[in-house]
Amino acid sequence: MPQRSLVLLKPDAVRRGLVGEIVSRIERKANWTLVAMELRTLDQATLEQHYAEHVGKPFYEPLMEFMGSGPSVALIVEGESVIEGVRALAGKTNPLEAGPGTIRGDYATITRENLIHASDSDSSAEREIKIFFPNHA
Ligand code: CMP
Repeated sequence: MPQRSLVLLKPDAVRRGLVGEIVSRIERKANWTLVAMELRTLDQATLEQHYAEHVGKPFYEPLMEFMGSGPSVALIVEGESVIEGVRALAGKTNPLEAGPGTIRGDYATITRENLIHASDSDSSAEREIKIFFPNHA
């Protein structure tokens, strides 16, 4: 089923020079297209909207600080089963539980700095695309 997903390559991905590697894994999947892509340091207002569901959790403040610590790359990926598919490429949230061959399993070690965010449902994608790419909403 064709879908859209909002994908963020987090500041650790940009700092470590992994943007090309991660984007190329996404690009190589059949029937997926990049429809928007932007390098941007995310401001606190944007992050507060994006991570509203995590307010009050113990990892929230360090996550906000990390996510604002340098540029991220925001993308919209469109195509067949892209929500489930990008999350499969990313691997589990905790990189130590993410399988080899996944982005987090191959390149990350701690949960906060897990390189990539990908929308987890159609409704999340719709909400997140409005935050990062209002012109595409
Ligand atoms: P993301 O997909 O961006 O959604 C929420 C983010 O919070 C998650 O990826 C991680 O970066 C971070 N996160 C979630 N759970 C934890 C945790 N237990 N400890 C630290 N960071 C977390």
